[in-house]
Amino acid sequence: MATVLAIETSCDETAAAIVKNREVLSNTVASQIAAHQQYGGVVPEVASREHLETINYVVASALEQAGLDWSDIDGIAATVAPGLVGALLVGLSAAKTLAIVHGKPFLGIHHLEGHIAASYLTDPDLQPPFLCLLVSGGHTSMIAVGDGGSYETLGQTRDDAAGEAFDKVARLLNLGYPGGPAIDKIAKQGNGNAFALPEGKISLPGGGYHPYDCSFSGLKTAVLRLVQKLEAETGAVPVSDIAASFQETVARTLTKRTIACAKDLGLNTIVVGGGVAANSSLRQHLQQAASQSSRRVIFPPLKFCTDNAAMIACAAAEHFNRGETSPLNLSVYSRMDICQIPLLYHH
Ligand code: KG4
Ligand code: ZN
Repeated sequence: MATVLAIETSCDETAAAIVKNREVLSNTVASQIAAHQQYGGVVPEVASREHLETINYVVASALEQAGLDWSDIDGIAATVAPGLVGALLVGLSAAKTLAIVHGKPFLGIHHLEGHIAASYLTDPDLQPPFLCLLVSGGHTSMIAVGDGGSYETLGQTRDDAAGEAFDKVARLLNLGYPGGPAIDKIAKQGNGNAFALPEGKISLPGGGYHPYDCSFSGLKTAVLRLVQKLEAETGAVPVSDIAASFQETVARTLTKRTIACAKDLGLNTIVVGGGVAANSSLRQHLQQAASQSSRRVIFPPLKFCTDNAAMIACAAAEHFNRGETSPLNLSVYSRMDICQIPLLYHH
């Protein structure tokens, strides 16, 4: 029964949390959205400096919220990959220092494993095998989760991540940053079938299309062309109809591939992770398609979908309970495939 304190600083949230196996004892997040909003996106150097300023407060508040002190903590974890290197280094240095000072084991965690573990916080009885659709600002993957924490990526985007596509389309519709929530909101007033937009299919060399991979950059360009055409022809841009049509296309694309993958692999449980899991259209499409094929879908609550440290602590507790800890000379990695996770632990 491991009690783990984890730190997450891979992008623009400074977060710390304490989890006892799959039970959240505290969860603190300091969002940097306000600091990046004026630039229309995350500025890596600004992110690192903001993390440095808030990290100590966030860790202290995680302990205070849980009503625990260091003697109650079994291990200290930090996200080490993938992410912004400068940002990751702040969390890693803090976690290593705390591990050394308090004499606790250290665990380096892969960010995507954290997003997958968010589903354990939602359903503590959940056990592999299951399929995870991971849709965030930086990632769009379909990952088969097997026994003992084995992961296999079966499908992914070939270019923009789903969240990135939402952010870029929101920018070109002048909806601000972050784009996902803004598009989701305005799309409610629009017609999702107003405009036919292309579903980014990936051609296979021998003919046909890849069943699980997708592409969002063509869709983003199609929205740009549509906006330019409507502006030139009518002088007006029906923002809510375009936002709704774009959102519908993303939701349909992801749902089709996820259900096909779950069917092919014979997996009856689908979990969704990452910030885009908050999207109302994706939730509706996936829920409906899953129930039509007698499958269960788990959507974690929003606070566990967007970046948080509770999911990192939960992933760390799984490793700790298997007797795995990381060497103190572990570094950070801006990119790392999820199948390389075993490299983060002692052998
Ligand atoms: O998982 P996350 O917090 O950070 C990363 O690890 O990337 O995801 C952030 C992404 C952003 O691109 C944001 O626009 C998107 O999630 N997002 C949404 C919604 N809420 C957040 N996208 C679509 N619909 C939403 N409701
Ligand atoms: Zn994330």
